[in-house]
Amino acid sequence: MGLLSDFAEGVPHACTVDGRRLVLVRIENDVYVLDDRCSHEDFPLSAGDVDTSTGEIECERHGAMFALSTGAPMSLPATRPVATYEVSLVEGRVWVELP
Ligand code: FES
Repeated sequence: MGLLSDFAEGVPHACTVDGRRLVLVRIENDVYVLDDRCSHEDFPLSAGDVDTSTGEIECERHGAMFALSTGAPMSLPATRPVATYEVSLVEGRVWVELP
C-alpha cells in the first residue's frame, strides 16, 4: 500500500485495493485498515476524524465512532461492525491481506 512514512499519523487515507475501497490509519507505528464504508449508511469513513488517544475513527455523517483495531461500533447510530484487515510491515512497507 506504500511506505509507512508515506502516511501521516492520525489522518485517514482512502485507497482502493483490488477494487475494494479501504481506509488506512496510522497511529505511531501501528497501521489499521478497514472498509471505507460506514456500517450505518454508505458513507466513507475516510472523510471523518481520528481520535488517536482512543484509537477510534468517527463517521462524519452522523457521528458514529468505530474502533480502528476491531471495526466495532463504539457509539450510535451504528450498531454493526466495519470489516478490518490484517496489516503487516515489511522493511517499512505496509501490506494488507485481503480475503
Ligand atoms: S452514515 Fe455513518 S453514522 Fe450514519
